[in-house]
Parts: sequence; structure tokens; C-alpha cells
Amino acid sequence: MALVSMRQLLDEAAKGGYGVGAFNVNNMEQIQAIMEAARETASPVIIQASRGARSYTNDTFLWHLMQAAVELYPEIPVSLHLDHGNEPATCISAIELGFTSVMMDGSLEADGKTPASFEYNVAVTKEVVEYAHARGVTVEGELGTLGGIEDGHGSGEVHLTDPDQAVEFVEATGIDALAVAIGTSHGAYKFSKEPDGEVLKMDLIKEIHRRLPDTHLVMHGSSSVPQELVAEVNKYGGSLKPAWGVPMREIQLGIQHGVRKINVDTDSRLAITGAIRKVFVESPEKFDPRDYLKPARAAMQALVASKMRDFGQAGHADDYASLSLAEMNDRYATAAV
Ligand code: G3H
Ligand code: 13P
Ligand code: ZN
Repeated sequence: MALVSMRQLLDEAAKGGYGVGAFNVNNMEQIQAIMEAARETASPVIIQASRGARSYTNDTFLWHLMQAAVELYPEIPVSLHLDHGNEPATCISAIELGFTSVMMDGSLEADGKTPASFEYNVAVTKEVVEYAHARGVTVEGELGTLGGIEDGHGSGEVHLTDPDQAVEFVEATGIDALAVAIGTSHGAYKFSKEPDGEVLKMDLIKEIHRRLPDTHLVMHGSSSVPQELVAEVNKYGGSLKPAWGVPMREIQLGIQHGVRKINVDTDSRLAITGAIRKVFVESPEKFDPRDYLKPARAAMQALVASKMRDFGQAGHADDYASLSLAEMNDRYATAAV
């Protein structure tokens, strides 16, 4: 089927009471791993690309890889989303390329680092909503800022989302999905120990959902940083420091309270790196890239499939299967631009 709008995926997820993983990609193997995991678990899925991913792949390569994914996995509803658009022009170029969803991250200024004012955030987000909705494209906004600066996103300061402002923000902008700041950050080093309610504010999600029951909530920085993946990287020569992420049970609690999109990048990076390091250490004579990219792809597939089951999206690709391809295209495809 054609790429579907993310709004459609999230509306279906809300009806079914499950979450949908949004997995970051930078290359063919990651796209293949996600699509294979989606097929294995019959899951609808969101594939997302950051600005960095777009410049690494070159938009044209990325677009054609996604077209191949859609063609080869016709039974999987898939949405292509821009992660952390830094200004309206970045979102507009993604929409022109064919993305079916964009994030306008106006919580930070266009440099992606300086915390922005509420007024600035409303203005740039509203501008993108007007452009995107006219073309059937979904928009995610963000209110509050995540911690974590090591991956190049964020100010390093955490500003938790204010529930009152969240209501005002959604009303003023018309966004489809709201990314909330509840104490998480991007990257492997989110918490110095297993997080409790003092540092990971799940109560805030409950409160925002109570006030905005019809807005799909998004959790960024949702990698769980599984201890076994960290140990695998370190066993084969890596030097990751002790690291804690967001426990799956907290994500599942969020899903019970309106979280519909769950962003994961770091865990995929860990799975890939561990698998590649293992080959390098155990078989130093090998130099065909397929010898280490195949296990890397398989490791990411296993990770993503397991998350799809835990988020509850597994089995839900079939919800769309009663429609013919033509009907699905009519119903879900975004307007041509
Ligand atoms: O938002 C953070 C994602 O992990 C993307 O990271 O900008 O290094 O591609 P990136
Ligand atoms: P992680 O670094 O926790 O995987 O978060 C990714 C993310 O939020 C992308 O927007
Ligand atoms: Zn993010």
C-alpha cells in the first residue's frame, strides 16, 4: 500500500489501546530490519528520519529505499515521519519529498539547542500545521524540552511539559500529536540509576492525557538501554559507561494513558554495534561487509520485533487487511503534492 498518514496509524492505535514504535533509520539495513520485524509480528509501523539521517542518506536515496519498503511489504501500513524538524523549511522540504508526517520541534530554536519561547513554538508549529494539513500530512509538536545534549539535540536542560500550557498549545496549533517532556533524554545515558517517579514523571503523562484525551501523546527518548545490549557491546571491546533507560513497564503505563508513538533510536544502535563488534572480535579475518551487516540487521530485527510485541502493535497490521489495496490507498494515502 502507499505510505499512510501517521494520524491514521495513531487513531487506530488509540481505538485499539496500543502504542506504535517510531524507529529511526539511516540506511538500508535498518529499514529492512524494521520491515522484517513488522512482517514477523504483523505490525503497523512508523519509520522516522532525522535531519542528520536525511543528509547522511541524501533525500533521494532515503525516498527510494522507502518506496522499496512499501512495494516489498504491501501488507504493512507504514508511515514516513520527519524526526525533530528544526524549522518550517525543513518540514516543508520533507513534505515535498513525500513524508506523510513531520515533527516541528519548536521547543527549541532553529539551532536545535536554544530553548524557545512559547510564542515562538506556537507560531512555527501553527505555520507547519497549516501547510501540512492542506496536504494530508500529520504534524507532531513538542512542548517542554528533553535533557541530553550528547546526540546533538537539546539544550541539556530539562523543562518538563506544563499541562496547562499543553492544552493552550494544542488548541493554538491544531497539532495531531504532542511530544511531552517527562524527564527522559536522547541517547544511552538517561538516568544514573533505575529511574523512579522522581526523575521519570509518568504522573505528568496521566495528567496531560486527562486534560487532552483526544491528543496522541509521544514519548521521545524511549530506549530502554537493555543491560544485555550494553554488556554485549562492552564484551567485544566497547567502553559504554553504566547506563539506564526507560523501563518497558513505564512505557506500557504511558500507553495506558494516551501515549501512542514511542521513539526509539539508541537501542537499535546498541543492537547493531554489539553484533558488529562480535564479528570483528570473533572473526578478525573477515572483511566482507555482509559478514557483519547481516548479523547487525538480524539483531535490530529481533530488538524491534520484541518492542512491537511489548507496545501492543503486533497483530494490528491485519486491522487494515480487510480493505483492498485501492481502498487503502484512497483512505490512507496523503494528498499528492
Ligand atoms: O532525536 C534523536 C534521534 O536519535 C536522531 O539522532 O540526529 O543523530 O540522527 P540523529
Ligand atoms: P532514544 O535515544 O531513547 O532512542 O530516543 C530517540 C528519539 O527520541 C528520537 O526522536
Ligand atoms: Zn526525539
